This record gives sequence, structure tokens and C-alpha cells, in this order.
Amino acid sequence: MAIQLVTTAARLRTESARLLKEKGGSSQALVPTMGALHEGHAELARTAVGQNDVVVASIFVNPLQFGEAVDLERYPRTLEADLALLDAAGVDLVFAPDVDEVYPGGEPRVRISAGPMADKWEGASRPGHFDGALTVVAKLLHYGMPGAAAGTGVPAYRAYFGQKDAQQLALVQRMVADLNFPVEIVPVPTVRSADGLALSSRNRFLSAEQREAALVLSRALRLIEERANARQPLDLDSARALVESQPLVDLDYFEVVDPRTLEPLAENCRETPFRGEALALIAARVGPVRLIDNVPLDS
Ligand code: PAF
Repeated sequence: MAIQLVTTAARLRTESARLLKEKGGSSQALVPTMGALHEGHAELARTAVGQNDVVVASIFVNPLQFGEAVDLERYPRTLEADLALLDAAGVDLVFAPDVDEVYPGGEPRVRISAGPMADKWEGASRPGHFDGALTVVAKLLHYGMPGAAAGTGVPAYRAYFGQKDAQQLALVQRMVADLNFPVEIVPVPTVRSADGLALSSRNRFLSAEQREAALVLSRALRLIEERANARQPLDLDSARALVESQPLVDLDYFEVVDPRTLEPLAENCRETPFRGEALALIAARVGPVRLIDNVPLDS
């Protein structure tokens, strides 16, 4: 069956309920996106399709999470290609509302406050970004929620987020836990090119030379991962020096943090052998783009 496009919350509700009933399904999933989809999003969608009876993907470029109006305008919009990618992944429904549908009467007066976990890392250079992202995620989670109209009891409800945006994922998990959203958040591992570069819609703005230079990010993360797996001291300083030796890369941060609080785990990073669970986070500017990457550590 071909993928179906809906643009209003009302149609989303009726169509997802109809599909759930038609399939005799007992689970529904949401894959929130801003479009400009790549293989990383395809992996999110395929994972959701493999685990749920009805899968909804949303495509909405959320003005609340952009600092500069030019960035919002410049954000790539590729609806036809996005629909083809989601269709190939087996998604049932695409919810692509316009701004007035999501924010009737203008920007919302009440918003989600992401709190102190949003002050650091990406939040430090993008004030208000995570408040805007969580506000729309809260709304999208409500739009995508299966209704009792499905007639199959209470369907399971899952939402899929990439580990690539580690801080966003941690904040969404906290919001859902702290505010009792009835949804299971499913993290999906980062998809990389064969040379290690994490897929991102921003990679298209890198020249060949900048792209080559950007590989130092995943190389440095791999170094940390290998040390963690070997239960060696992580020696974050030497990994930082590797990144800083690349002249086209301007390092913003490279830290090892607690995956639940995003606070730095300083004692694990230097002389002592690494134990436990952590997240190595990196961000750097390469030419015109800011790139982020991370690797989960678990010894
Ligand atoms: O990760 C994204 O694409 C966006 O931040 C999200 C989760 C769709 C909210 O706009």
C-alpha cells in the first residue's frame, strides 16, 4: 500500500485509527523529523516499522528551535524525496503540517522548559533551542498518539529518536519520564558513511577537503571507544589534541559525560581505567557547518 500524506491533526487521528483497526494492530509509532531525510532517518523509520503495526513519520521544520530566521529559511525542504524514502522504509502515514496547523495564532505562550541539562554542550551555543525542540516534540507526541478509537484496547505507543542528537535524545527521555508522557522512547544508533562520518543533513554543505578533515571527529571518538572497551584510562586530552591538530577543524567541545545527566565524568577520563557507562560528546565547526557526533561507552 502506498504511503499516505496528511497535513492536519484531525486527519492524522482518523487515518491512523483506521489503519490500526484495518490491520488489527496493537502498536503505533511516531518518527519525528524535520525532513531533508537521509539514510539515518531511513534507519529510524525501518526500526519503527519492524517493531510496530502502524508507523507515522512527521515532517515539520519547527520555527521555535531555530535561533536565526535565515537558518530557518535556509533549512532544506525536500518533500518529494522524503516521501519516497519513507515509503521505501514501509512507513504508513506522513504528517506534514504547516506552521499554522501546529501553532495556530502564532507562537505558543506556554512552552516546555528544558532545564539545566540544556544549558551545556549544544545548548550553550544555541540558547532556547532545546526549549523549542521539546515544545514541538511534546506536541508531536500528542498528535501521533493512538486513540482509544482503534478499538483494540490501549495500543502500545513508541517514538523513535536518533542517538546522533545525543543531547536531544537525553532531554526527550527526561521530559517523557519527568512529565509522565505515555510513550516509550526508542533510541536508534547513529548511521555512518563507510569512512566513519556520522550522517547529517548538514554534511551536504562540506567541500571534499572539509569532509576529509571532518573525519577526525569520528576517529577521535573511536579512539576513546577503543580505550573504554579495553578498560584503559580514556586519556581524553590526547584525543582532543588529535582533533586540534587538524587545521580545518575548530573544536568546540569534546567531553565524556554521564548519559543521564550530561554532566562531565572527569575522573573517568584521565588516569583511572574506564568503568561503567558514559557518552563521549564532540562538536566542532568545519568550514560553514557545525558538526556534532558522539559514541556511547559501556565497559
Ligand atoms: O531531530 C529533529 O529532527 C528535530 O529536532 C525534531 C525531533 C523532529 C523536533 O523538531
